[in-house]
Amino acid sequence: MIVIGIETSCDETSVGIVRDGIDLLACKTASSMDIHAQYGGVVPELAAREHIQAITPTLEAAFTQANLTWKDIDAISVTYGAGLGGSLLVGVMTARTLAITQHKPLYAVNHVEGHIYANFLTKTGLEGFILPQKQPEFPLLGLIVSGGHSQLVIWRDHFEYTLLGQTHDDAIGEAFDKVAKILGLPYPGGPSIAKQAEAGDPYAYNFPKAKLQAKYDYSYSGVKTAVLRAAQKVIGKDHTFPSFELQHHLSDMQKADIAASFQRIAVETVVDKTIQAFEEFQPRSVVIGGGVAASQELRKQLAERLPVDIEYTDPKLCTDNGAMIATLGFFHIQKGRPAADPYSLDIKPNLSM
Ligand code: KG4
Ligand code: ZN
Repeated sequence: MIVIGIETSCDETSVGIVRDGIDLLACKTASSMDIHAQYGGVVPELAAREHIQAITPTLEAAFTQANLTWKDIDAISVTYGAGLGGSLLVGVMTARTLAITQHKPLYAVNHVEGHIYANFLTKTGLEGFILPQKQPEFPLLGLIVSGGHSQLVIWRDHFEYTLLGQTHDDAIGEAFDKVAKILGLPYPGGPSIAKQAEAGDPYAYNFPKAKLQAKYDYSYSGVKTAVLRAAQKVIGKDHTFPSFELQHHLSDMQKADIAASFQRIAVETVVDKTIQAFEEFQPRSVVIGGGVAASQELRKQLAERLPVDIEYTDPKLCTDNGAMIATLGFFHIQKGRPAADPYSLDIKPNLSM
């Protein structure tokens, strides 16, 4: 069973081809991140326009990489939410058109679930991908950490899961991006904060961790404001000093200390909840998905505090990609879930888990 997956929910146009939900045959991604970098974040209209440009060449590149043609494909899988409306539309309209013209069944999948399914890919003939040794097992504790999502989920089986907790405001990656902006570090914030933090003291500041009613929920708005106030204080200005001016007054060392302290707390926030959930649910596997899974600080803290080893997938499969969508599509088919109507499938920008 060969499934082609189409992903366009944010700023990556990506197509993956996967056999039997385990074997990666192709994964091609075109990112418009460079365009957004100059604005310090994704500009939805620009992302949608770039998807229109990139979708056909990306499809072609994936077929070339897999050395396959449409007659080899059994089904099409597409992200229909959550994500940016204009971006999602390009993927969904493309998938609908292809399902009709190529006579293939169409499966609509949830992007956030998809991040976890990237970890089910354990085989590939492609060079340049380092994959986990074995597929995760249920019960599975999933931590999704990206620019758009921060969720902690327990899966008892495919499609049988409970959302344990999530952020009340910014996603963790978004918090990295916003703090990077305060410090004048380039977008995306995760890697640039990690780099600046190398020279800093992670205990220079004790930024707050939000305390919320719900056991597994968390928040990043408090720590973001605390970073802003700390930056204003360290240069001797009060709260009225504009945040966009701060970067010109902070020394490299001051930036490094703030970056390292923020990174430690931002990561601890999700790791605390992950450890708590691990103790309560005793899962067989712990799986991390999303762009922030690339964070060395996250990996370090999890390794120090979790009693089991985590296998991470290749960074190219941690960020948004079509292969995870194809993999999840395969499990929709395997579990007998209904196909979508290619004449009416609509986007769901606010799709939840
Ligand atoms: O999964 P992703 O590519 O896109 C979304 O679905 O949002 O995640 C992008 C996010 C960005 O916010 C970026 O700052 C963050 O992942 N990120 C990191 C690292 N690499 C990327 N955050 C922390 N540490 C990193 N090394
Ligand atoms: Zn994502």
